[in-house]
This record gives sequence, structure tokens and C-alpha cells, in this order.
Amino acid sequence: MQTKTYTERHMLGLKGMSEPELASILDRAAYWEQFPQKVSQQLPGKFVANMFFENSTRTRFSFEVAEKRLGMEVLNFTAAASSVQKGESIYDTVKTLESMGIDAGVIRLKPNGILEELSQHVRIPLINAGDGNNEHPTQALLDLYTIRKHFGAIRGLTVSIIGDIKHSRVARSNLWALSTMGANVQFCAPETMRASELEPYAPYVSMDKAIQADVVMMLRVQLERHGEGMLDSAEQYREQYGLTVEREQKMKDHAIIMHPAPVNRNVEIDDELVEHPRSKIFTQMSHGVPIRMAVVERAVS
Ligand code: CP
Repeated sequence: MQTKTYTERHMLGLKGMSEPELASILDRAAYWEQFPQKVSQQLPGKFVANMFFENSTRTRFSFEVAEKRLGMEVLNFTAAASSVQKGESIYDTVKTLESMGIDAGVIRLKPNGILEELSQHVRIPLINAGDGNNEHPTQALLDLYTIRKHFGAIRGLTVSIIGDIKHSRVARSNLWALSTMGANVQFCAPETMRASELEPYAPYVSMDKAIQADVVMMLRVQLERHGEGMLDSAEQYREQYGLTVEREQKMKDHAIIMHPAPVNRNVEIDDELVEHPRSKIFTQMSHGVPIRMAVVERAVS
């Protein structure tokens, strides 16, 4: 077996990742999902640091569960309770943890571009847990896993990604990975939430057309990233771009609803649809653990 380089062990994004590599991560997650023991001794004595410079519930805890299930030693770093509050930089923080001998770092950052640069200056593999509006690779991997498990295959499916494309790292990672796996990706968004640089890769369609897809993936309206004038009102957004009960009734019989969460109930999706039989929202979250086991294992093995 060939030894992997640090570059090959990083998980910075899914843009450019090959179909066989994506498929091998999904296959390994399928192995971990059916693994009967809660805790394995796959990676004993390996240290991983979860470094969250931006808030998280799902990603942070599912990485921690995944790492503990692999038998790893887990260090949790939260910016709010660290020397970042005294002005220490992200770079110095990561170098500090690296100097203590960790084997891998999971990192979530607000700004774009830092992660790529950081990866060139450390000797440990880094796993992107969400950077700015650039990529959120493990979220997209668990989305792909959910779609593949439900439909049996991804190739040929139409996936509508609806909502705040401009601010969404989930939309970007899904666009790259779903396209590589042979899905037809289309976007639907108000003018103010479109990302013009993505237009060559996926068409924008009307809401009526978007809900006719096999997968209707709603995005959270990222109120915290919005400037003035992006959103007139939550009610108006729901009326024009929300997945309402009325719209759900027009979806194809076999179609599924997805959302990365957290959900703004009754804004981008009606309350009644969050746990609807079509909804995969909590299933997606449960798949976060085996996917992150596969990704962490890839980084440190
Ligand atoms: N989907 C997702 O990334 O959720 P968190 O922000 O809670 O991690």
C-alpha cells in the first residue's frame, strides 16, 4: 500500500475530487454505519483536535462522536474560551496544537482562503468543517451518502438546491461533488442570493421547476451573513422561495426533502415538513457520524 502525503490526507474541499475517491469515502462510511460496536479500536493513541472558530452543533458533535467511535483521543478547542480572545491568530493557534503532537485537526473558520494557506504551513492533515462560504465537504459527503442510500445511485438524478446560494458553503460542496457523481444540479434563489460565479456550472430555475426534482435540497437563510436589503421579510421569502405544505404536494411521489440544518422553521421550510415522511433532515444528521469516521480515518491512517 502506498503511503499518503499530507496533501492527500487533507480534506479541504470536494472541488476536483475524483468520482472513485468520493465513492470510496461513501463506501467506507457504509462500512462504519453497519459496524455493530459503538467504539472500535481502529485508531487508538491518535490525537485529534476539533478547532471551531465559528459556532456549530451538528458538525462539531458528530466529529466528536466519530472520533470517539474510532477510539481516538479528542481535544476540543473553542475560540471563545481560548487565547484567541487575547488576540492570538488562527495560524498560531493551529501551530500550537500541532507542536503538542496532535495527529489531525478538524477546523471551522469564518473567513475564506485561510484554510488553504494554513494547510501549506502545517505538517498535520486538516479537515475542513466549514470555511466561510467556500466549502463544507463533510456536509456534502453526508448529503451524497443520504441520496445514494435512498435512491441506490446518484447518477442521473436531478437535485435542486434552493435558497441562499450566495452565502452557502453547503451549496458549493454539493455542486462540485454531485456533478462529479453524475447528478444534474440546478439552483433556485432570489436575485440577491445568487452566486454569479457558479452560473456556468448549474442553471437557475423557477421555484415551480425546482420542486419537480428528485431531491429538493433547501438551504438555511443565513440571516447572520446578510447585509441590509437582502431580505424584505421572512413571510415574503417563505411565500416566494419557501418549501410550503402546498408546494410539497406538487413534488414527485418519489422525491425527497433535504436541509443541512439548522432550520429556520416557517421561513425556508414549513414546520410540518421538517419531520414529514419525505424529509431526510434527521437521517442526514445521523449519517454525519459514519461519514466523519471515514474522513478522519482517511486523514490519519
Ligand atoms: N449543518 C451544519 O453544518 O450544522 P452546524 O453549523 O450545527 O454544524
